[in-house]
Parts: sequence; C-alpha cells; structure tokens
Amino acid sequence: MPDFTATAPGKVILFGEHAVVYGKPAIAVPVTQVRARATVQAAVKALPGSVWIDAADIGLQAELNALDGRQPLAFAISLAQKHLHFARYPACKIKIRSNIPVASGLGSGAAVSVALLRAYSGFLGRPLPDEVVCELAFEVEKLHHGTPSGIDNTVITYAMPVYFVRGQAIQTFRPGRPITIVIGDTGIASPTAVSVGEVRKAWQEEPERYENYFESMAGIVESSRQMIEAGLIEALGPLMDANHGLLRKIGVSCRELDWLVEAARQAGAWGAKLSGGGLGGNMIALTAAERAAEVASALQRAGAVRTLITEVK
Ligand code: PMV
Repeated sequence: MPDFTATAPGKVILFGEHAVVYGKPAIAVPVTQVRARATVQAAVKALPGSVWIDAADIGLQAELNALDGRQPLAFAISLAQKHLHFARYPACKIKIRSNIPVASGLGSGAAVSVALLRAYSGFLGRPLPDEVVCELAFEVEKLHHGTPSGIDNTVITYAMPVYFVRGQAIQTFRPGRPITIVIGDTGIASPTAVSVGEVRKAWQEEPERYENYFESMAGIVESSRQMIEAGLIEALGPLMDANHGLLRKIGVSCRELDWLVEAARQAGAWGAKLSGGGLGGNMIALTAAERAAEVASALQRAGAVRTLITEVK
C-alpha cells in the first residue's frame, strides 16, 4: 500500500465569531501559509490493526490502542474506521506535523482532524468525500469545546471563504478583489472552550442584552459579505472596527488584543479586530497589500509574538 499524505490550511474568522454559536452568520477564510499535514505509511512488520501515531509537535508518540478514546487523534481515527467498516485494518504509521499555532484561533485542531481523516481514508483506498470529512471533523471539534458552531471544520475542509450559519447548507464564495489580512498573535494561549463558556454564562444572565449584540454582529456579517463580493474591500475597515467594539462588549477582548488592534489602525490598517475565541490568541487587520509589511512591523513593535500576512482570493 503506497504512502498517503494530506494537508489542510489554517483559518481566521473575519466577522461574526461567538454570535455564530447562537445561530447567527459568520464569515471565515482559509490561511494557506500555515498547514497541518498527515502522512500514513504501511507498517509491514507490525501486527494487522496496529496504528502507530507520531505527532511529535504535541509530544505524542504512541500506539493507538494505548490512547484514551477521547484523545482527538484517536477519536478521529475511530470515527473514520466506523465510517469505512473494514473487516481488517492494515497496520500503519501515521505522522502528523503542523505549523499552525495551537489555541490561538487559527483552527489548528480542525486542520489536524481534516488532514488526518483525508490521509487515513486515502491510505485505505477509500478517500472520504468533503462532506463526510467536514462532518467527522465536527465530531472531533465537539471534544475541544462542547458547543462548536462548526465554522472551523467547514472553512478548513473546503479551503475557501465561507459564509456560515449553523445547521444550514454551506455557502462558499469568492471575494470580488483579493483581501490582504495581517494576523497578529498576542502569544496568550486561549482555549476556545473558555471564552465560549464565559459568553454562555453572560448570555444566560442577560439574554436580551446579548441577543442584541449578536443581532448587531449578524448585521455586520451581512453587509460585509456584500462588500467582499463586490470587491469594496476598503469599506470593510469600519465594519471590522464595529465588530471588534461588539466583541469587547461581550467580554472576549483583553488589553493585549486591544493594544494590537489599536497599533494596526495607527499603522494605517483600514480596520482591525480580534479573531476567533478571543481573551488572547489572534487579531486581524485589514490593509492595502502594499501596507501589509508596515502593519506587521507595527504589530511586532506593539508586542505581537508572531505575524502572518495572508491574501484571500
Ligand atoms: O477556534 P476559534 O478560536 O477561532 O473560535 C471559533 C469561533 C467561535 O465562534 C468563538 C466558536 C465557534 O465554535 O464558532
């Protein structure tokens, strides 16, 4: 059996995070500069069914059987096996590598799941179609935080900009003009489960107030989609700023994120906001392509531990 490799990109949410958990729309785009990669090789000398996992980046090297069934990699493999129904699985070695920063809103968990599901099913000669990869990666996402919207696994599976509403058919689209985004990392690891949990608590305490915020975010998402498709990229800046203001109000920004957002604006970005779960992790800035390097330098001077420039087409 030949080796099989699959990769999956990172992602950022442009508009609508958190509100998307409550049924509102959001827009996310792939970040192709960073990727997760899974390679599956036959292990000719091992016993049938044996699966050796080498995920050195997360300090994991183990036999599949020795892992807890709720360990995300083990869970993804078991989901694929349940779906494929082989009588006997060939022994194999699975190598997983990723340069997507973890717990920072770039979708590292979903990207690893997507790459792994594709590589493993491809190795077995039964490559899973995108909709199944997306669905199984969503099951794995549920391990990370109980109520994921499904946006991460969707944008990463399809590797295209998506307009996403939980429970509705997936809508991918293309921007009318390329969008240049600078991503700045606060360096503060922030598991999505924590910020999603905080927002849920606050929403339970003040449902009406939070529903209003989510409704305003939904309005921003609708306007931004129209502008993106029409190629009116500069006009998205004020929408980003407004979305950041609402994310602050729901309590998911922090001093470091606000500081980087302000630094990006001062350096000439058209708009900026936190992206993803918040309380750390990444922010994004929308800028003219020729200004991107300057905005990235300004973010580094303001304390970003990592910056990435990406173009969405
Ligand atoms: O994985 P992150 O940090 O990009 O966050 C995902 C966005 C949330 O809306 C906060 C959660 C979700 O499941 O959609």
